[in-house]
Amino acid sequence: MEDILEVMRSRHSVRQYKNEAIGKEQEEALLEEIRDINRESGLNIRLFVDEPEAFKASKPHYGSFSGCRNYFVIEGPSGMEEQAGYFGERLVLFAQKLGLNTCWVALTYERSKVTPEKGNVIYIVIALGYGATQGAAHRCKPVKKLVKAPEEVPEWFKRGVEGALLAPTAINQQQFRIELLSGDTVSIVSLPGPCRYIDLGIVKYSFEAAAGKDNFKWKE
Ligand SMILES: Cc1cc2nc3c(=O)[nH]c(=O)nc-3n(C[C@H](O)[C@H](O)[C@H](O)COP(=O)(O)O)c2cc1C
Repeated sequence: MEDILEVMRSRHSVRQYKNEAIGKEQEEALLEEIRDINRESGLNIRLFVDEPEAFKASKPHYGSFSGCRNYFVIEGPSGMEEQAGYFGERLVLFAQKLGLNTCWVALTYERSKVTPEKGNVIYIVIALGYGATQGAAHRCKPVKKLVKAPEEVPEWFKRGVEGALLAPTAINQQQFRIELLSGDTVSIVSLPGPCRYIDLGIVKYSFEAAAGKDNFKWKE
């Protein structure tokens, strides 16, 4: 089985896509994963394929997209920001394993073209497809700024931290702090910033997937 950290290391935001339809097998695998996630989370994630409208307008600055014809809409009842991030990142890494590229998009899509189903709120959209490139690694804040832990830490914690540092965050803000508390208890908090709780969910999923769920407990 592929090491999830390898998958995380190879994932970068991609905003330019090839004009290539998603393979049938990949689409079915994505739909099955979405069904599982929706059942488990209470979110209502939807996959749109061959729908160019949401990314049509070319925005001149940050966050301009080209050729994006597929995307996930992460929506659900109100108050589920952290779950949107947590389960969305599970889907992003699942797509990466299938050879598909992604980019989380809070702002730079055509909002008028994406409407929620009844009673839901749209948390975010995730662009999806075969990238023109694989993107590039983001800049990372110094580990000392983000992590508080004793000198000697267990292997699972090192892996978790690497996963968290590789996690995408809105405008790469990395506004989170990780702490190893007594024994095997870990706390991650997010600081004020755009998409604060979506970022928190993304970072927590990334830490957990890399560290191994059974190796530690989250601080209540
Ligand atoms: C919650 C969230 C919102 C984002 N919104 C946008 C956006 O509106 N437009 C865009 O081009 N990128 C957006 N991004 C992508 C980030 O800029 C990108 O994840 C970050 O710079 C880190 O780079 P990486 O994903 O390549 O690791 C968003 C990312 C996250 C996690």
